Amino acid sequence: MERRPDLIDSYGRRISYVRLSVTDRCDLRCRYCMSERMEFLPRAELLTLEELVQVADAFIARGVTRIRLTGGEPLVRRGIGQLVTWLGERLGNGLEELTLTTNGTQLARFAADLRAAGVRRVNVSLDSLDPDRFRHITRRGELADVLGGIAAAKAAGLRLKVNMVALKGLNEDEIAPMARWCASEGHDLTLIETMPLGTVEDDRTDHYLPLDAVKRNLEQSFTLTPSLGRTGGPARYYDVAELGLRLGMITPLTGNFCTGCNRVRVAATGTVYGCLGQDQKIELRDTLRAGQSLDPALDALMQAKPKGHDFEIAAPRPAVARHMSVTGG
Ligand SMILES: C[S@@+](CC[C@H](N)C(=O)[O-])C[C@H]1O[C@@H](n2cnc3c(N)ncnc32)[C@H](O)[C@@H]1O
Ligand code: SF4
Repeated sequence: MERRPDLIDSYGRRISYVRLSVTDRCDLRCRYCMSERMEFLPRAELLTLEELVQVADAFIARGVTRIRLTGGEPLVRRGIGQLVTWLGERLGNGLEELTLTTNGTQLARFAADLRAAGVRRVNVSLDSLDPDRFRHITRRGELADVLGGIAAAKAAGLRLKVNMVALKGLNEDEIAPMARWCASEGHDLTLIETMPLGTVEDDRTDHYLPLDAVKRNLEQSFTLTPSLGRTGGPARYYDVAELGLRLGMITPLTGNFCTGCNRVRVAATGTVYGCLGQDQKIELRDTLRAGQSLDPALDALMQAKPKGHDFEIAAPRPAVARHMSVTGG
C-alpha cells in the first residue's frame, strides 16, 4: 500500500488508532447505552462493507496501525465475517492489529473465523455474572450466550479483555468477584465509569459510580500497583498482585487522558469524530461515494481535532454517541 504523510494533529499527536463502527444496531439495550425503543438508521445511510474497507485503507495509508471494530454490536452486522477477512488481509501490510469490541452474544459463532482472519484479541462487555442482573442491565440478554461466546473465543486462541461498566446499585458488589473470575479464566478486566452519552431513559446520575471509590474499595483486599504501559487510550492500568490480573480503569469524568490521545472514531455512517466528547466531525460518505480521495477530509480532521473533551455527567451529547462505541480500547 502506498504510504502517504502520517496523520498528525495541530497539537502534535500522531493518530495510529481508529475505532471503526460497523453498525448502529444491537441485539441488546443496555440501560446506560441505548433507549428501550431505539430507532436505528436506514441501511442506505450506513457505509457498505466495501466502503468500510476503503475508509480503513485511507487511514492505513496515513499511518494508522491499529483498527478496532465496534458498533452498536459489530457481530450483528450482515457480512461481518467477510469484512473481518478483508481487513485481516491488511495485517502485515501497514496494519499491525485488528481487534473487536463485542457484547459476546454472537461470539461463539464467529470466534474461529475471527482468529483465522488474524484477530488475536477481543474485548467483551460483561457487567454481571448473575443471569437475572445481566438480563436487567441489558434489558434482554442471556448471560449463558455471552459466557458461551467467551469460552469459544478462548478455545479459538483469542485473548480476552472483559469490559465492565461500574454501576452504583446494579453491580458494584460484583466488581471484586468479577476480578477473581477474570483472573481465574486468564482474562484481563477493565472497569468503565458511566459516561454521559446517548439518550437513555434511566437517569445515569443514579448509577454513577466513581472509579476512585471503587479503587479504594478494592485496595482493602488487593494490592494495586500502577502499570507503566499506556496505550494512548483512556485506560489506566494496574497489576493486582494477589490475582495476577491486569486491571484497567477508564475514568472519563474523573481522569484526564487527552494529552496522549492517538485515536479517532468513525461512525457507521462515515462520520469521523476527532474526539468522543466534542462534536468536531468530518463526513466521509459523500466523498467516498463521489469516488474522491479521503485525504483532504482527513487533513481537515487533523487541523480541527480538539485538545480534549469536556464531559459533564448532566450534559449528554446524543449527536456524538448514537452510532459509535465509546470505550473498550
Ligand atoms: C457501545 S459498546 C459497542 C460494542 C459492543 N456492543 C459492546 O457492548 O461491547 C462499547 C462499550 O461501551 C460501553 N458503554 C456504552 N455506553 C456507555 C456509557 N454511557 N458509559 C460508559 N460506557 C458505555 C459498553 O459497556 C461497551 O463496553
Ligand atoms: S453497550 Fe454494546 S451491547 Fe450494550 S446496548 Fe450498547 S452497543 Fe449494545
